[in-house]
Amino acid sequence: MKRIAFHNREKETKEIMDILDDEPSLITFVYGPINSGKTTTISHLIKELPEDYAPFYVNLRGRFVTDYEDFLNVLFEIDEEEGGGNVAEYAKSALKDLGTVSGIPIPINLFERIFEKKDKSKDMFRYIERFFAEISKTRTPILIIDELQVIGDLKIDGLLIYKLFNFFIRLTKETHLAQVFVVTSDSLFLENVYSEAMLDGRCRYLLVDDFDHETTSAFLDKYGFTDDDIAMAWESCGGKPVCLVELVNTKLGSGDITEKTDKMLEEEISRLVFLLARNKETKSDIIDMLTIFASVEEVKYSDSMEIDLLSFLVKQNILFLDSARRTIKPQSRLNLLAIREVIADA
Ligand SMILES: Nc1ncnc2c1ncn2[C@@H]1O[C@H](COP(=O)(O)OP(=O)(O)O)[C@@H](O)[C@H]1O
Ligand SMILES: [Mg+2]
Repeated sequence: MKRIAFHNREKETKEIMDILDDEPSLITFVYGPINSGKTTTISHLIKELPEDYAPFYVNLRGRFVTDYEDFLNVLFEIDEEEGGGNVAEYAKSALKDLGTVSGIPIPINLFERIFEKKDKSKDMFRYIERFFAEISKTRTPILIIDELQVIGDLKIDGLLIYKLFNFFIRLTKETHLAQVFVVTSDSLFLENVYSEAMLDGRCRYLLVDDFDHETTSAFLDKYGFTDDDIAMAWESCGGKPVCLVELVNTKLGSGDITEKTDKMLEEEISRLVFLLARNKETKSDIIDMLTIFASVEEVKYSDSMEIDLLSFLVKQNILFLDSARRTIKPQSRLNLLAIREVIADA
């Protein structure tokens, strides 16, 4: 099968490069609806970064993290060679051969030492800080944690996430040692972050949304879509990259793209119908809330909205809540169309 090339994220890439140009001072939260291309954009950028940067990318997606042991195992990339115990020396040698690391390199003996400690977080943070301090003499370290909400509720001596946020603040605002990016699709997690006093004035938010119309047209045009095809794709999939990629693959495989979009819409409708069937007591409230989207694609959050119900629909990945802008919209164009069909039938 033909591989689909990375498509234009100029605006977002420029925003990130502008951040990287400055001395580290704030934590950057990269957010957006599911499958909008956050991970793809960041991964692509990492590959294209100039030599002055040293990126460390950790993805918690699909990782089962229930304790420190799990967390340390995803955060670090263990180097089976003993490091001799000197972090600065080790960092210097690690720099020579960084390649594509997933996680922060650590020699096995130091890793085991952290493991033995009672207060693991203190030693873990101390190691990372020393490691970054050495790296930062020649390059700017960038720590990127994707899907951080996975450990949002993890309690070890209090919530781990607070310790991490404190550490991220130390790396950015206090010591200016490293750039820190936190990527998440979970808008409820981000809403918590947004109202968290400890992060106030210490972070910024960067939205990676679905492609806009122009970007979508240019993307489909590369794969021989006619103007009519593009209009049809935009009408049903909007600019959701994952959905557009499916259409392109269908077209490349000589399939029928209208049939494909019909099928995708049908699946979204089923998801919503079953969600309503499983929640009989709140069904009419859910429908009331979704009816807002009968004529508009996006609404401003208002405090007259039933917050529990809204949270529920966000958690079910039906709605996307943008706390930075206080807006709410369906997670995708397909979602919007499914909502409209279902409320019309209700
Ligand atoms: N800029 C892009 N160019 C081409 N395909 C993309 C692009 N962004 C996303 N995609 C496609 O969409 C899929 C979902 O994107 P992903 O980055 O995993 O979304 P997110 O991290 O926001 O949930 C990717 O696997 C890829 O196939
Ligand atoms: Mg992702």
